[in-house]
Amino acid sequence: MNARTTRTLAAALSLTAVLAISGCSGEAEPKMIVSGAFMPEPVNDKMAGGFMVISNPTENPDKLTGATSSLSDDLQIHETKDQKMQQVQSMDVPSDGQLRLERGGNHIMFMGLKSTPKVGDKITVELHFEHSRPVKVELDVKDRTYNAQAPTTTSGNHH
Ligand code: CU
Repeated sequence: MNARTTRTLAAALSLTAVLAISGCSGEAEPKMIVSGAFMPEPVNDKMAGGFMVISNPTENPDKLTGATSSLSDDLQIHETKDQKMQQVQSMDVPSDGQLRLERGGNHIMFMGLKSTPKVGDKITVELHFEHSRPVKVELDVKDRTYNAQAPTTTSGNHH
């Protein structure tokens, strides 16, 4: 190996190092934080809804652009207007803010289910964003009337 080859190699290696470092700085970025993810037990295998709160801890506005899951090949982002749901291409996740997917409002829609989940099951979903890295979320399958946002008043249930 002559000196020229060595220098070229060193240059190539340092370039690789720079690329690796810039890749790492992306890794260190805080990503979206998801809480309260659930799916009401679907009535049949035609469709199901997914609900959660997506928090954006960064100072950069982002967008939820899609979702994937082994339960369905067709996950859509739906908003509800005048009690009718319609598909949208993306939804804003404001900087230092939240995108709330809740019953009667925005949600993720699973179309054409490969099976019918039951209460107690867990459904893994990967959320995709315009800027942030994808986030894997587990949705707890809950009772059909379950609502995460409902106040938990248990006073009537005391023994
Ligand atoms: Cu829907």
